[in-house]
Amino acid sequence: MKEKIEKLRQDAAEAIKEKVANLTDLNDIRVKYLGKKGELTAILRGMSQLGAEDRPKIGKIVNEARAQLEALITEKNEQLKARELADKLSSERIDVTLPGRQFRVGHLHPLTLTMGRIKNIFLNMGFSIEEGPEIETDYFNFEALNLPKDHPARDMQDSFYITEEILMRTQTSPVQARTMQSREPNSPIRMIAPGRVYRRDDYDATHSPMFTQVEGLVIDKGISFADLKGTLEVALRQIFDEKVGVRFRPSFFPFTEPSTEVDISCVMCHGAGCRVCKGTGWLEILGAGMVHPHVLEMSGYDPAKVSGFAFGLGVERIAMLSYGIDDLRLFYDNDVRFLRQF
Ligand code: PHE
Repeated sequence: MKEKIEKLRQDAAEAIKEKVANLTDLNDIRVKYLGKKGELTAILRGMSQLGAEDRPKIGKIVNEARAQLEALITEKNEQLKARELADKLSSERIDVTLPGRQFRVGHLHPLTLTMGRIKNIFLNMGFSIEEGPEIETDYFNFEALNLPKDHPARDMQDSFYITEEILMRTQTSPVQARTMQSREPNSPIRMIAPGRVYRRDDYDATHSPMFTQVEGLVIDKGISFADLKGTLEVALRQIFDEKVGVRFRPSFFPFTEPSTEVDISCVMCHGAGCRVCKGTGWLEILGAGMVHPHVLEMSGYDPAKVSGFAFGLGVERIAMLSYGIDDLRLFYDNDVRFLRQF
């Protein structure tokens, strides 16, 4: 009996030392010898068949063997766990000397940047910023601007109608009438209205059915064409450069009288004539004029007491000229290779 126990102890001890590669192996050995149906446990169970004087002796040997094996198992268990942790740490090691991943920081769209510059220039001249809806009534978009129904000048702005009376605004000029009607009659106004406008149009390098305008309106006692010229010259020189040439040509808009088209000297060739200015040396940049007396009247202002001027400029055109962009569609394509450059 004693030898049998000794043999078991030796076998088990050897197995623990030599044959165990991982925690599962170790558990298998524990079960084999010390588990409920294990070999050493079987001997303890069989003790009842032993004689009275053998029982304590054998019991002592079995218990010693058991204690020794348990100690070995605990020790091995700790070794294995330490090794697993070490393996894990080395296999999951982070190389802190690698360069970090670079964050791409977003920034403003070139149209937003251009709009921001234009806004700043006018804010510095004491203008306020007014807003109006992109879905507009026929009344504000046309009628209140001296374009009654069936007026031929409506043809200049091929429109997106939603109903007979509601359309996508074709210009930011309706904000003129909205602002006048929201103020005390004849009170002074100095405002710009930036925003998107919509016209039925092609989509090519220079046309889009949606684009961006900035409207301007100044009304006060004694405002003259000289104020219009001075204000626009100062603004255009700030938008482009100090030396840019500014030229006023007679034109027609139903809501201004007289009306003018404003050109700047070509930003590419400085007036010599090139492809961009089609050889003329000038670039058309905005429409403007003295607010028509009837337009003042319709919005509650008295043309005998106050006068004003208005202008409307296209933001895409200004952005294209200041950044040297030759295709309008680039603004709307959302191609990061383009957008990243600003
Ligand atoms: N609303 C005109 C357009 O879109 C521009 C303009 C505005 C002209 C104000 C004169 C005065 O063509």
